[in-house]
Amino acid sequence: MRDEAVSITNQNESSLRIVGFLCNWCSYGGADTAGVCRFRQPPLLRIIRIPCTGRMDPMFVVKALVQGVDGVLVSGCHPKDCHYAVGNFYARRRLELVGRFLPFIGIDPRRFRYTWVSASEGQRWQQVVTEFSALIAALGPNPGFSAHVR
Ligand code: FES
Repeated sequence: MRDEAVSITNQNESSLRIVGFLCNWCSYGGADTAGVCRFRQPPLLRIIRIPCTGRMDPMFVVKALVQGVDGVLVSGCHPKDCHYAVGNFYARRRLELVGRFLPFIGIDPRRFRYTWVSASEGQRWQQVVTEFSALIAALGPNPGFSAHVR
């Protein structure tokens, strides 16, 4: 795990970018826990903190990928742990549809992932970021929407 994180750092540090939308109450805390515990992670991820995944407008995902971000990761509280009771249930429905919609606009759906990570799961957060970063590194730069409009 540690070596994989380092190799992604060396290969793609300057070019690839992943945008992560993290719910304030769980996944942001999980990312913080990973940092506090000094779990090494690839540096591709840029985090945007949102109050809940229920706040996640599916167009945030589409816009980011259309504009050329290489990957989008959404992460929130585990089902039934949402601090707003059902926000992540709404999010799951919307995000599932986004993943199915992306191929219709010419975007590889592997560039988008959603998951659930709690504030105490720093190691799981490290694993999620490392695996998704490795996938994005394997896929290479996102050509964005412009590559498909000619
Ligand atoms: Fe975390 Fe709703 S508060 S997903």
